[in-house]
Amino acid sequence: MKFKALGVAVAFAMTTAGTAAWAAKVRDEPIQPIQPAKVANAAKVELGKKLWFEPRLSMSGIISCNTCHNLSRGGTDNLKTSIGHGWKAGPVNAPTVLNSSLAIAQFWDGRAANLKEQAGGPIQADIEMNMPHTLALDVLQSIPGYVAEFKSVFGSETIDMDKVTSAIAAFEETLVTPNSRFDKWLKGDDKAINAKELAGYTLFKESGCVACHNGPAAGGTSFQRMGVVEPYTSTSPVEGRSGVTGKDADRFNFKVPTLRNVEMTYPYFHDGEARTLEEAVDIMGRLQLGRTYSKDEIDNIVAFLKTLTGDQPKLTMPILPPSSNSTPRPDPFK
Ligand code: HEC
Ligand code: HEC
Repeated sequence: MKFKALGVAVAFAMTTAGTAAWAAKVRDEPIQPIQPAKVANAAKVELGKKLWFEPRLSMSGIISCNTCHNLSRGGTDNLKTSIGHGWKAGPVNAPTVLNSSLAIAQFWDGRAANLKEQAGGPIQADIEMNMPHTLALDVLQSIPGYVAEFKSVFGSETIDMDKVTSAIAAFEETLVTPNSRFDKWLKGDDKAINAKELAGYTLFKESGCVACHNGPAAGGTSFQRMGVVEPYTSTSPVEGRSGVTGKDADRFNFKVPTLRNVEMTYPYFHDGEARTLEEAVDIMGRLQLGRTYSKDEIDNIVAFLKTLTGDQPKLTMPILPPSSNSTPRPDPFK
């Protein structure tokens, strides 16, 4: 990487003494450190957290966002493809929600512009929570604890999807994972990663992985073809970005996934077909870069990828307000 004089000048221009001292030390690399979450409205985040863990937003009464994006497991379900209402299998692997606020768009094909737009989808989707929005709102509106909390956060007792998705998005924005060992190294701590991990990063950078996996999330900055040099063979019918743009040129283009916390988010790829990181790295080398890595090279890259695991969100489990006598009851077998 060339030394970018302009980047450094901008970093120094940041005003407060603390920021300047910190920014001055960050190495000039294609991956930048994850910033800790800034919470603007703690009450809204707390409400969003309740809704995140709220199984009554599902028809069955047992599926919440956390079922498939388990925050004890890197924000994923660790299944090839997700299982939702009625044990139905979805077509794609559940991406992590950790650091998803840093991505250009949401979903593998980017069909939702942002977290708020995304959050309404899974509640209604028949393969996920299978709950019509009108019924989800009836449930929330019938629970006095929620009515009071929406009133204190939004100033109104009327609960609508705009408020629900806005609270969930506010919570998701806090799900960032700063302080990984790689970030400590980026900020100047030479001892934060060992020689093998550094060799892995150097190879990752020099062989061109960073052309697609870059920015703070080491991904999420662009849509790219899966199978640039060699085609990717899969039994999955999913075709990616072309489903959104309608352009044939976008077939098999997917949002480049984040590599943050990637050791926790197995299995890999949109179809979940790569069981291990070694397999995923080998496939990426061959298909994206036309490069066959030796076993040692793969081990080094994998060692580097494991330094991208940051502090996981520390949450106090929310206590959800009880249903009232008039709350519509769940229907697990519908
Ligand atoms: C049944 C499992 C399941 C449930 C329940 C579920 N999701 Fe997902 N989620 C998925 C899958 C699978 C995808 C990927 C879908 C795609 O890309 O087409 C996804 C994608 C996402 C993404 C996009 C991440 C990215 O990097 O593109 C976000 C954000 C998200 N879900 C949030 C939520 C929220 C909020 C809820 C609850 C309201 C929820 N999910 C409920 C399985 C689930
Ligand atoms: C041309 C862009 C491009 C290049 C270069 C590239 N990747 Fe990827 N990477 C992607 C895309 C797109 C996906 C998602 C593919 C899919 O799911 O079908 C991906 C997925 C991955 C995954 C799986 C992540 C997950 O959560 O499923 C890993 C690990 C990965 N890449 C590592 C690497 C490594 C290591 C290199 C260098 C050897 C590399 N990538 C080079 C675009 C790229």
